[in-house]
Amino acid sequence: MHADVLRAINVQINSEFSAWYQYLAMAAFCDREKFTGAARWLKSQSAEEYQHGMKLFDFVNARNGAVELTRIETPTREFESFGEVFEAALRQEESVTSQINSLYELCFKNKAFAEMTELQWFLTEQVEEEKTAREIVAKFRLVGDDPGSLLDLDRELGSRTQP
Ligand code: FEO
Repeated sequence: MHADVLRAINVQINSEFSAWYQYLAMAAFCDREKFTGAARWLKSQSAEEYQHGMKLFDFVNARNGAVELTRIETPTREFESFGEVFEAALRQEESVTSQINSLYELCFKNKAFAEMTELQWFLTEQVEEEKTAREIVAKFRLVGDDPGSLLDLDRELGSRTQP
C-alpha cells in the first residue's frame, strides 16, 4: 500500500472506532435518563460504527498493510437535551463525510485504485447516515420540549432494527 494512503486509512480506522465509542456514550446518557428508545437507536448506530472500523481493519490486512490502532479520546458524556445528542450526532457524521472525501481524494492523487473502490462503499454509507441524522434532528427541532411528542419520538427511535 502507498504509505500516505495507509497512514490516512489508519487515521480513519481510529475515527470510526471513536464514533463507535461516542455513540455508546450517547446511548449511556439516554439510557440513564430513561429515554430508552433513543438509547436503543444509538446502541445500534454504535455497533454500525464498530463494523465500519472493522471493515477498514480487514481491508488493510487483506492489502498486506499494517493496522495501527491508536488512542481513542474520551467521548462527550453529558448533553443539555436529547435533541442536543442528535445535533452532536449529525455534526459527527458531517465531519466523517468530510474525512472520507479527503481520504478518497488522497487515494485518487496516488492512483490507489483498490482503496478507492473500498472507499466508495463509505461514500454511499455517509450519504445515508447524514440523511438519517438530519431527519431525526429535524424532528427534535419540530417537537421542541413537548413531553408527549418527545415520548412518541423516543418510541419511533426504539423501533430501529438492529444491524
Ligand atoms: Fe462510520 Fe457514521 O460513519
